Amino acid sequence: MTLDSKNIVNLDLKKEEKILNFSDFQKQNLKFDIVKLQEAYSQIIQTKKFEDGGGISHFGAICLTRKPGDPESVKGSKARGLYWTKPDKSGKEVSRDVNIDEAEYSEFIPDYESTYFKEVFDVISSKYKLGRVRILLKEPRSTLSWHRDPEPRLHIPIITNPGCLMVIDNVAKHMPADGSVWITNNTKYHNAFNGGEENRVHLVACVLDYKFN
Ligand SMILES: [Fe+2]
Repeated sequence: MTLDSKNIVNLDLKKEEKILNFSDFQKQNLKFDIVKLQEAYSQIIQTKKFEDGGGISHFGAICLTRKPGDPESVKGSKARGLYWTKPDKSGKEVSRDVNIDEAEYSEFIPDYESTYFKEVFDVISSKYKLGRVRILLKEPRSTLSWHRDPEPRLHIPIITNPGCLMVIDNVAKHMPADGSVWITNNTKYHNAFNGGEENRVHLVACVLDYKFN
């Protein structure tokens, strides 16, 4: 095949745009046991159903932390929380959902104390100031909105597939389910999609004391 130079679009990329910059995905110096994470997830879903975040399709959340003694603090839209999105052609930003006082979500829910997630929570909460800690489900062939969140997020992938990518700004990355821990810059516009045919499940925690440059 010969290339027809007339058909080559000159994207006129600036030098710095030709090199992908993954600095909004920061792998942490921490590792957990992926088999134990998957076992803990199997244990939890035997008794607990995912919250749909107030009617969001292809999304599910199980909160592992709550406001002390307050089971209502993890239900409905509180399992999702405030974000900003640009829903239409105007490109105008709007806010969605309810504001959450993340720092109040300090109690690990007693029902899950016998699972490996308690051990994981003890470690990560000793290293970072955390808000809500949730198990998030992204169903097959689905996407989130294009949005930004109030704070960075810590991710521990539990179940994933090669078609699961997170996109921050213009950079996409797959985070493997191997026990690794990532902090992602969710204060920039981002998305996560699952282009596979199996569920994608991550432990996701709001991080209140992590600064990206
Ligand atoms: Fe987000």
